[in-house]
Amino acid sequence: MQTGLRGRDLIGDLDFSREEIETIIDVAFDLKRKRALGEPHAYLRDKVLAMLFFFASTRTRGSFEAGMAQLGGHAAFIESRTTQISHGDTEKEMGDIFGRYFDGIAIRHVDWGVGNRYINLVAEASRVPVLNMQCEIYHPFQILADLMTVMEKKGGNLRGRKMVVSWAYASSYLKPISVPQSLILQMTRFGLDIVLAHPPEFKLTPEIMDQARDQARKEGGGFEVMDDMEAAFKGADIVYAKSWGPLLTTTDSDEGKRIQDKYKDWITDERKMKLAREDAIYMHPLPADRNIEVTDEVIDGPNSVVFDEAENRLHVQKAVMALTMC
Ligand code: CP
Repeated sequence: MQTGLRGRDLIGDLDFSREEIETIIDVAFDLKRKRALGEPHAYLRDKVLAMLFFFASTRTRGSFEAGMAQLGGHAAFIESRTTQISHGDTEKEMGDIFGRYFDGIAIRHVDWGVGNRYINLVAEASRVPVLNMQCEIYHPFQILADLMTVMEKKGGNLRGRKMVVSWAYASSYLKPISVPQSLILQMTRFGLDIVLAHPPEFKLTPEIMDQARDQARKEGGGFEVMDDMEAAFKGADIVYAKSWGPLLTTTDSDEGKRIQDKYKDWITDERKMKLAREDAIYMHPLPADRNIEVTDEVIDGPNSVVFDEAENRLHVQKAVMALTMC
């Protein structure tokens, strides 16, 4: 167990070592048990988290806000458009000034080529931990919740388990690539055999791919890439299929939608789920484009764990906040 997390930022998935991630998951299970038993756990009494949003959210806002209250503190919801950022408040000013008011600063900023840089510049100027609630590169808290959920459903030793991280078609908007990127970075550290499946235009960033390969090599897991959704599903223990935009191919949304529309058959349905193991779990971070990305039968079916996955956002975030902001 590694407990030296006080004052640390969590911006990228590899900011914490594998052992530190194990500590977070361990604490998250303890906090989940305490909440179920109604045991008080006010580890952050009188502490305040700033939650700065540049993009919409249901789960992230709800779970951080509820989590801070359950830890005895408070979370301030700050929508970027209501601030003076557009009138000149810089990253340095936000980090330095908010660092004097708050005990932690959490930020969601998913704009391509902007969000991650913004969060890092705020962190450089801040005296308190900065937590990434999703940028265009990483979504570390989603993946911690995913890891906790996989461990709940498949046991603590994940070595040799096959996890498919697949692209899926969506029509709503070009979704960020941060979830698949964070998945391949974090899950390869836990010995899973990861199969990444996507059409050719939906590549992830080369640096992240190299890091995922390195993690798999170090931890004895697998990392394979293919462009066939059905082949990828075969024999899977965990199916994680969601949409993302072809952002490495084009950042033009009309062009991106035209590319996306070529692959409408990349939907998770019961026929494809039958290619996976009978006890395979279906995961999705939500929101999903129902009956486009995944059928109602699958997302509401017996193999779906999406509600437990959403719940676990609360527990892992409380664990990270309790360990970094105390
Ligand atoms: N999964 C996730 O981050 O959900 P929200 O976008 O609703 O926060």
